[in-house]
Amino acid sequence: MTELKINADRLWSSLMEMAKIGATPKGGVCRLALTDLDKQGRDLFVQWCTEAGCTVKVDAMGNIFARRPGRNNNLAPVGTGSHLDSQPTGGRFDGVYGVLAGLEVIRTLNDLGIETERPVEASVWTNEEGSRFAPAMVASGVYAGVFTLDYGLSRADVDGKTMGEELARIGYAGTEPVGGRPVHAFFETHIEQGPILEAEGQTIGVVTDAQGQRWYELVLTGQESHAGPTPMPVRRDALLGAARVIQLVNEIGLAHAPVAVSTVGMINSYPNSRNVIPGKVFLTVDFRCPDNAELSKMDEELKVGVARIAAAAKLEFDLKQIFQYDCVHFDESCVQMVREGAQALGYTARNIVSGAGHDACYMSKVTPTAMIFVPCIGGISHNEIEDAKPEWIAAGGNVLLRAMLAKANELPEVFKSNETVAVA
Ligand code: GLV
Ligand code: MN
Ligand code: MN
Repeated sequence: MTELKINADRLWSSLMEMAKIGATPKGGVCRLALTDLDKQGRDLFVQWCTEAGCTVKVDAMGNIFARRPGRNNNLAPVGTGSHLDSQPTGGRFDGVYGVLAGLEVIRTLNDLGIETERPVEASVWTNEEGSRFAPAMVASGVYAGVFTLDYGLSRADVDGKTMGEELARIGYAGTEPVGGRPVHAFFETHIEQGPILEAEGQTIGVVTDAQGQRWYELVLTGQESHAGPTPMPVRRDALLGAARVIQLVNEIGLAHAPVAVSTVGMINSYPNSRNVIPGKVFLTVDFRCPDNAELSKMDEELKVGVARIAAAAKLEFDLKQIFQYDCVHFDESCVQMVREGAQALGYTARNIVSGAGHDACYMSKVTPTAMIFVPCIGGISHNEIEDAKPEWIAAGGNVLLRAMLAKANELPEVFKSNETVAVA
């Protein structure tokens, strides 16, 4: 079956076409969730899927499902997909690769005239990045039953606009129920977003696990006062407290290295005026680790450390954990399909743990799931310079095609013994 390959040039040119929507001067993409640019990206995807003969449905979280029928359309489909939203200074591949690789599988099946037993579906998940609306992967989380629909739709951006309002505004508040339907298996193709595969000269990352995450929001409150007359000993400087918390977060990550990582990625200081002692600071904390017990220790160290820092700086504080998921172990049979696909195609491959969060992490709660990683240049992602070699992009698509075909041709026992039995 070595001749079974996607059209790599078509996948690459579709990626470059999509990258024009929200293109940044440094060669990256800014296509924040549920903005007009996100709508443009979605519209293009829907147009391409419709042209490829798919039926397109949108659910109430704005997740898009493009279905290519199979021989038995009562059977649960095999899904693949990722996200079209980006970070503010994002790249051309994070998310969009997994979406368009799915479309390319469908286009290739069309070209080759292959009819699968089960339908196959390429999907777009709303607001994976968690940049405009926290938390990340919220719409696949609703799909998987981790969050309620009300919770998902009520997530608000910094201006107070909710996901529900923004979905309606851009015309993607769909009518399909979110989740609750069978999916036979799910695959997500993604760039690694780290340096391991490229450094080791491996083309395919067979993703066995994803590390757990905890996200926090912290508000430190002191007192605004004049930068000139206020003596140092009486100040209640919230930004000074924040600086110490940033140091603490870094120390916690280092103390649990090499497996754990810790980040303060967002900070807002009020009133943010050069001659006012800051009275309030909002900041975010992101902890990740492939070991849930270590994450719990980090959580405890954060709580104790923030309380100590706030007391010493005479600040009030409100520390909230806003998001958590435990480490994910992907489905052995789906992982094996990825491994076998890479082997059959002669690609170098290694097992790998995902450092990033992905919609596949939530999908793994409701269906057998696996991920396919390909390298990215210098391991850089969440950056406009994010890049990948066309041959890596092609390789991941080829492995996806094989893994999806294998799963899409799996029949339930009842079908094998009696083809006339209907499956609800
Ligand atoms: C998503 O990009 C994440 O891992 O934060
Ligand atoms: Mn992503
Ligand atoms: Mn991302």
